[in-house]
Amino acid sequence: MCGIVGYIGKEQAAPIILDGLGKLEYRGYDSAGMAILKDGQIQIKKSVGRLKVLEELTHGGSLMEGVVGIGHTRWATHGAPSNENSHPHVNQKETIAVVHNGIIENYIPLKNKLIEKGYSFQSETDTEVLAHLLDYYYKGNPLEAITKVLHRVEGSYALGIMFMDQPDQIFAVRKDSPLIVGQNEDGCFIASDVPAILKYTRKVYFVDNQEIVRLRHDHMHFYTVDEEEITKEATTIDWDTEAAEKAGYEHFMLKEMYEQPKTVIDTLKPRLKGNEIHFDELKMTDEQLKAVRKIHIVACGSAYHAGVTGKYVLEGVARIPVEVDMASEFRYRSPILEEGAMVVVVSQSGETADTLAALREAKKLGFPVLGIVNAVGSSIAREADSVIYTWAGPEIAVATTKAYSAQLIVLYLLALKFGMVKGTLEQNCYEEMIADLKKLPDQIELLLAHKEKIQHFANRYIGAKDIFFIGRGIDYSISLEGSLKLKEISYIHSEAYAAGELKHGTISLIEEGTLVTAVSTQPALYQKTISNMVEVKARGAFVMAITNEGNKEIEKAADYVIYIPDTNPYFTNSLAIIPLQLFGYYVAVGKGCDVDKPRNLAKSVTVE
Ligand code: G6P
Repeated sequence: MCGIVGYIGKEQAAPIILDGLGKLEYRGYDSAGMAILKDGQIQIKKSVGRLKVLEELTHGGSLMEGVVGIGHTRWATHGAPSNENSHPHVNQKETIAVVHNGIIENYIPLKNKLIEKGYSFQSETDTEVLAHLLDYYYKGNPLEAITKVLHRVEGSYALGIMFMDQPDQIFAVRKDSPLIVGQNEDGCFIASDVPAILKYTRKVYFVDNQEIVRLRHDHMHFYTVDEEEITKEATTIDWDTEAAEKAGYEHFMLKEMYEQPKTVIDTLKPRLKGNEIHFDELKMTDEQLKAVRKIHIVACGSAYHAGVTGKYVLEGVARIPVEVDMASEFRYRSPILEEGAMVVVVSQSGETADTLAALREAKKLGFPVLGIVNAVGSSIAREADSVIYTWAGPEIAVATTKAYSAQLIVLYLLALKFGMVKGTLEQNCYEEMIADLKKLPDQIELLLAHKEKIQHFANRYIGAKDIFFIGRGIDYSISLEGSLKLKEISYIHSEAYAAGELKHGTISLIEEGTLVTAVSTQPALYQKTISNMVEVKARGAFVMAITNEGNKEIEKAADYVIYIPDTNPYFTNSLAIIPLQLFGYYVAVGKGCDVDKPRNLAKSVTVE
């Protein structure tokens, strides 16, 4: 996500800020900016695109002289990447500059009030309200103005703030978005993450929620939101930069797997008002949704697999016929779309060439396109008629985990929304499903906590030649993703089959000791899948089963069982996928593969 770096001290600020922002590049961003204070003036430079552009624009910072400054790399949320939307944001007189990570949830009412009071806005961001609100409250005492603002804003924030008439101090503030401050003999630093300043100091303070820090060139003071001074203990960082970027995890993929509970919360929470689903970003009324007669889901890779799950859930819950297509197929098969059809494209990057082309094809045919996208301001997000964002944040590992999990959540919510507007879902059933959705983050956490057990099991399959995944219905869609995770990072040949299709060819591939992973989370299909497990076992397979807690009967047919916590059968993918991701990951780690950057694969496939 966005990055913040600030500095006040004896050295030139701009090169330090650029260097620090560079260390945060791994978080993903789409624009950058810096504000430097010198001779009673705030100078600002911003650029869309890579940090390199800002470096060139400022000659590595040398064109922006000054020993006080704040900088930012922005991962767009409110408003597309542009110079206007990039940080720092300033008040009208350009006397106060702010950089912000997080989301100001009540920015619309605040913005309206400020407009009534005569303020005008330059950007579409939520952040800009902070600059104007600070201006409104600032009467010469920065701390007082900041605390007044904090009492008015709701949401999450890490902030760096600078006042033109206060050249000897800058401020850092935090609530629900990470922020640290650090100090060395030459100055004090603000950063949204440790690697940004590790080169300069290992002495850091972790700013806690609702704390304000006043940084001067030689010391720092900490305050509560009620302006009471507090003391804090410094922490000495003893890890290196690379480990810091991965927050101590061995790989980005593992880190991202561990971010899944948060991703699910972040994707779910803004859409739930009480028990009601609100897709504020969906530019369709309930009446228009009710009129949808068919859905075409189009995507690539894991996003396609999320779409396959989406088909089962949408058809089951809302009784709408759903077709799922790989984008590379859809775009060239002259698809037949009939009146009442809606196209849903799913993409983490929002830049996948085939998915983008499929979107254009659907629009050309005159059908509404909904994008389920992770990267804000990406091509798909811009070109789709409406966008529902998956709030997974930047994903670095090529093999997707958390973005896939977020896509599932949006598809579930969409199915429930359609179910309600179409009247196919009883109120009590709907409420039980919402309650089950809310439990998913804790249940995912629980499954992640058992990683050692899976690691141990995975180590036995480092030398495997082929591994198969079978399942029926939703379990087939989980198998598709489990198989892809394994093969893309471990280079072990793997296939996923609909369990009922085994006898039509695949079963001839089973040899003594072949690992078959059977996913069985749909109570109505337990017996059918058990029969298929028995069939492969009879041909020498070793069967690992993934099933719901309580389905002890499976132990008769499986050699090894992983149980997932109880949830609605439509949501089991969100849980069953966790052990499968861990399995693929640990097999690849055991083989010594480059897990985050597997050979021949790219994170964002922008060519056909
Ligand atoms: C690549 C990635 C996959 C991803 C697919 C679709 O193959 O390695 O992880 O699922 O592209 O990408 P998208 O960005 O459209 O979701």
